[in-house]
Amino acid sequence: MSAYPFEPFRIKVVEPIKRTSREERERSIAAAGYNLFKVRAEDCTVDLLTDSGTGAMSDTQWSAIMHGDESYAGARSFYTLKQSVEDVTGLPYFVPTHQGRAAENILFRVTVKPGQSVPSNQHFDTTHANIRARGGKPVDLVIAEAAEPAKQHPFKGNMDIARLERFIDTVGANNIPVGMTTITNNSAGGQPVSMENLRATADVYHRHQIPFFIDAARFAENAYFIQQREAGYAGKSIEAIVREQFSYADGFTMSAKKDAIVNIGGLLAMRDADLFERVKNELILREGFPTYGGLAGRDLEALAVGLREGMDQDYLAYRVAQTAYLGDRLREAGIPIVEPPGGHAIYIDARSLLPHIPQAQFPAQALSVALYVAGGIRTVEIGSVMFAYPDPDTGAMLYPTTELVRLAIPRRVYTQAHLDYVATTCIHVNEQRDSIRGLKIIHEPLLLRHFTAEFELV
Ligand SMILES: Cc1ncc(COP(=O)(O)O)c(C=O)c1O
Repeated sequence: MSAYPFEPFRIKVVEPIKRTSREERERSIAAAGYNLFKVRAEDCTVDLLTDSGTGAMSDTQWSAIMHGDESYAGARSFYTLKQSVEDVTGLPYFVPTHQGRAAENILFRVTVKPGQSVPSNQHFDTTHANIRARGGKPVDLVIAEAAEPAKQHPFKGNMDIARLERFIDTVGANNIPVGMTTITNNSAGGQPVSMENLRATADVYHRHQIPFFIDAARFAENAYFIQQREAGYAGKSIEAIVREQFSYADGFTMSAKKDAIVNIGGLLAMRDADLFERVKNELILREGFPTYGGLAGRDLEALAVGLREGMDQDYLAYRVAQTAYLGDRLREAGIPIVEPPGGHAIYIDARSLLPHIPQAQFPAQALSVALYVAGGIRTVEIGSVMFAYPDPDTGAMLYPTTELVRLAIPRRVYTQAHLDYVATTCIHVNEQRDSIRGLKIIHEPLLLRHFTAEFELV
């Protein structure tokens, strides 16, 4: 088993954790309609719901916040961020947004028409929903290995290039206003995409005159995996690898709440000046003036620092090793996880763990609930609650291939003792897995149902 990594920081501010009893947690989860999003955060012992916006900012970020220029237009903080975005990504035009999904909304509002398709290796849920909200079709073309949780592959987030070619030939390039790739692939285990694959994806899109946008939420973790696993990159700096990743793209959407280690923020960047004009008009309508987007000046400052800090070699080595440590502990206890561990989270394969629960009864949601009741561990379902939807033509339910429970690790927040507690709780739940019951939805909204749906035990 890998050793727990040395944390390349000291802790200056702490936040208490409330301890709860099993009975209290049973009451909380029932009152929340068995939806972990509806449980109060203070009732969670270790909160692994998401690594999004939950990181601990550094002293440098907190001090940058005091430099926030809150002017409506042309704030100094915008220019500080502009310099960071240019240095880190090399893209000439960008707007700040309040978070990743706002960048997606704006991009698809100005590019996607009803009936058009947007291919990707695998869209995240908000990207998926924002494309559908425009009448578009999100299409996932990740390599087949991604559907096999136990399979080892160094770049399991890769696009299946042959499938992408075939898909473009079938629907026609003029029905594809934008093509994407998500780095790392959050929906299938936080798996990285190789540089070779990014290059090949860009080549295919560009040969068909399709603009290529990267969903860059975890741009730095992806670069770290490239450095560690791809031939020819071992001696390169993270900064150089990040620049090369972005060099193949015509633009990117970014939830800055991940690798840019801020509690709120997003970016939408591009090379095309005409697209930038359309984006700015849409931004003014929905987010704010182009020099602040949906953010305060202080948020722009924290983001300008976080973009650079997220690429620190020692920090990335610690982060990826911390995630691998949790993965090792679960694997050694016989708990099936998505292999190999990704950067930001460990994903438990609920379909293998709970073969007695059919997909229609949401095995991953059932496991999530069990982990909360057993130890106050809050996780998220990435399975049929999040991704099953009725086929628009036939009405038949389309189920995802995997049913995963994601244990996402907030950045610079939890220590080894916390992760050992998580592992012990998972092991305890695994021992009692035959008694876990499936769930039935009793209320759901039209889109993004996992956030607000309510369930009852079957
Ligand atoms: C890959 C990916 N894309 C987009 C998003 C959406 O970002 P946000 O939550 O900031 O709206 C997320 C995170 O939730 C994500 O993981």
